[in-house]
Amino acid sequence: MPTIKHTLIGPIRQAVTMANLPLKGALKDEQMEIISEAGILIKNDRILQIGSYWDMYPEAQSIGAEILNLKGDFVALPGLIDCHTHICFGGSRAKDYAMRNAGKSYLEIAKAGGGIWDTVTKTRKAGLEKLVQLTIQRANRHLKDGITTIEVKSGYGLSVEEELKMLRAIKQARENTHADLIPTCLAAHIPPKDFEGTHRDYLKAIAEELFPILKEEGLSNRIDAFIEDTAFSAEDIQSYFHKAKEMGFDITVHADQFYAGGSQVAVDFGAISADHLEASGEKEIRILAALDTIAVALPGASMGLGVPYTPARKLLDAGASLAIASDWNPGSAPMGDLLMQASILGTFEKLSNAEVLAGITCRAAAALNLNDRGHLVSGLLADIILFPTDDYREITYQQGRLKPGMVFKNGVRV
Ligand code: NIG
Ligand code: FE
Repeated sequence: MPTIKHTLIGPIRQAVTMANLPLKGALKDEQMEIISEAGILIKNDRILQIGSYWDMYPEAQSIGAEILNLKGDFVALPGLIDCHTHICFGGSRAKDYAMRNAGKSYLEIAKAGGGIWDTVTKTRKAGLEKLVQLTIQRANRHLKDGITTIEVKSGYGLSVEEELKMLRAIKQARENTHADLIPTCLAAHIPPKDFEGTHRDYLKAIAEELFPILKEEGLSNRIDAFIEDTAFSAEDIQSYFHKAKEMGFDITVHADQFYAGGSQVAVDFGAISADHLEASGEKEIRILAALDTIAVALPGASMGLGVPYTPARKLLDAGASLAIASDWNPGSAPMGDLLMQASILGTFEKLSNAEVLAGITCRAAAALNLNDRGHLVSGLLADIILFPTDDYREITYQQGRLKPGMVFKNGVRV
């Protein structure tokens, strides 16, 4: 007989459930369900019940639940979800950062041996074990900050073998951290310098040789591509994405980072998400709002590169769904602090608490096509974080300085 474990957590001053919010469009704080003096009853890895702590207490006791009696003030949120990261990488690009801040151009930095290719070289040099270890370390740092689900991209391998090495490293890291890692294949990050053939030949080789192995080994069911003039064009990517769709992969796109165009590709292919969008204009905002592709803002990349933020306010007002992710990577977004970045995006883009928090919980879950998390409601995974405060507004107000005091993943305190 499998063992059943019940735990009741409470009383929680405010449980912000993120339940019943529309997936798309602007949100007001009053739309958020906030349960005062809440209790959350967990059964194994799931939320069994959420409601008034004092109403739930007698029943919890009668079924022998462990009572986690909170002393002091706490606000509960669903575990945060970072739906776009590149945390599997070797080396640092501190040199690029300094050069960029000294006014050097993208090309000058690349010529001096910097840019994405530099990280490819360093990631290829790092053995599998080292990559596993680095990914676990970064995932655990995120977990401490309350991020219980983390998307992780490959894309610093850029050959069949090296992409496989990265995705196998992510799989091994996943087995060795409490955070849930969601792997994405970004073999179409940039055209590799050492591939003999055209960009399209490279993509063809990846689709034919790597995609079937991803399926066989269960390494990823998501395919990403960077659509940009320094990476792949909209035309380059057509047959790659067609093949990915045919094989049943979810599509996501690095879109409109420096010039607009990628978001059109994203909606054409029914992508789950279009990420970046710093360069999106009225037209791109309109098409994203009209369709189901989730817009993902990456404020950490704006901070890392010193470029404008994604037009989050305009996207929401036009009716788009907006998730917010860290893009944690060694080049454009080395900071990797999701809550700080989401809060600061909120101040610059005039976002409500509801919009910021939805962007890193329920809307981020949708950007990963996950319907078992992102809200505190019965039946979903017991991914719960507790901040030491009595007012949920302190969380964005403190701009990332307020960290969760307790983090639960799949019902287990981590
Ligand atoms: O999301 N835009 C392309 N890729 C990454 C940057 C990766 C890197 O610079 O290493 C991004 O910003
Ligand atoms: Fe990225």
